[in-house]
Amino acid sequence: MTRQDTIDGARRYELPTYPRLDIVAVRGEGARIVDADGTAYLDFYGGHAVALLGHSPGRVVEAIARQARELLFYSNVLHTPARAAAAERLARLSPWEDAQVFFSNSGAEANEAALRVARKATGRLKVAAFTGSFHGRTLGAAAACGLGEYRAAAAPLVDPADAYVFGNFNDVDGLRALVTEECAAVLVEPIQSMGGVHSMTAEFAGALRSRCDATGALLLFDEVQTAPARTGHWFCGERWDVAPDLITTAKGVAAGFPAGVLLAAGSVAATVGAGDLGSTFGGGPVACAAIDACLAELEEIDGPARAQAIEERVRTALGEAPGVDEIRGHGALLGVRLLGDGPAFAKRLREERHVLVGGCPGDTGVLRLLPPLNITDTELEQGLEAIRSLL
Ligand SMILES: Cc1ncc(COP(=O)(O)O)c(C=O)c1O
Repeated sequence: MTRQDTIDGARRYELPTYPRLDIVAVRGEGARIVDADGTAYLDFYGGHAVALLGHSPGRVVEAIARQARELLFYSNVLHTPARAAAAERLARLSPWEDAQVFFSNSGAEANEAALRVARKATGRLKVAAFTGSFHGRTLGAAAACGLGEYRAAAAPLVDPADAYVFGNFNDVDGLRALVTEECAAVLVEPIQSMGGVHSMTAEFAGALRSRCDATGALLLFDEVQTAPARTGHWFCGERWDVAPDLITTAKGVAAGFPAGVLLAAGSVAATVGAGDLGSTFGGGPVACAAIDACLAELEEIDGPARAQAIEERVRTALGEAPGVDEIRGHGALLGVRLLGDGPAFAKRLREERHVLVGGCPGDTGVLRLLPPLNITDTELEQGLEAIRSLL
């Protein structure tokens, strides 16, 4: 299939749900993605925050291939060594001694599972969430999106509209009215990524924990984009010394293989019984082999330390650069807020310097940088120099 056939075929046969760039990705080489025409792009977008270890990382690809040869799939009705290993490693890296996990296939599904667990554990219906948030596109997850266009796209909602209540992100004083004894959960991204790369303040994190303790609502961190390791900690709460009750993650957790995870503190896990959650493919052996290999590699390279080093380098290179308003976020999830037009800058960066960056629907002036944690120093410098050259 020629390059043009690929583009034409997608237009002809796929529903037009995605605005697409004119790039035909045929190969990944570490931090680079290669177009069918041979152009290599330095990828600071990471395939939508997924390529935590770059493209086609060897250890994960080997684990996937090995597992696929041994056993491609069996459902959750049987035990598999791959699932047991992935669950053990996730639980060990989690903030709790007594964590238990549930495997799904995506971030939205993990959030749906978390909301169901919270409802069952508390016997309550309401979910408190925040303006600027994004939690996925399934009906329940979309209903909890504070970025209004995603919530509107799912309307009419399955739950009563007042089952979801919204407060302002980082508004400590607003928590008393928002989080009540009717709330099953407070669903929050520790760093709002799509919303513009806004990090929770330490004060807000502490206040969330206190308000949840006071009302019995469960604190649910949506770490689909932030965990594992991306922000300089295995899980974000470590930054503020706050442990939530539930964590969801996906995207980078299997380094590019589709997988989602719900992690629950022991006290919440104890409320879950047979049949409460389920998924045919979630927890499949290949996905779990990918998760285990990804986490093993992150442990070996000290992923959180790598993320911190990347942040330091980016802040040094761009923090004082002309045309940069501010740099937000942590680790390898950073938002560079420009004084000028973000999408126009990203287009020039792509076309003139062959560097890909993400945008933010919640703040179009922001370039989202999501480089892989194992990016080489040279590649990181090349990307930063390319950005600087166009400022
Ligand atoms: C914070 C957050 N939560 C949930 C999701 C949904 O994940 P998925 O697309 O895997 O369903 C995303 C995806 O961008 C996300 O960024």
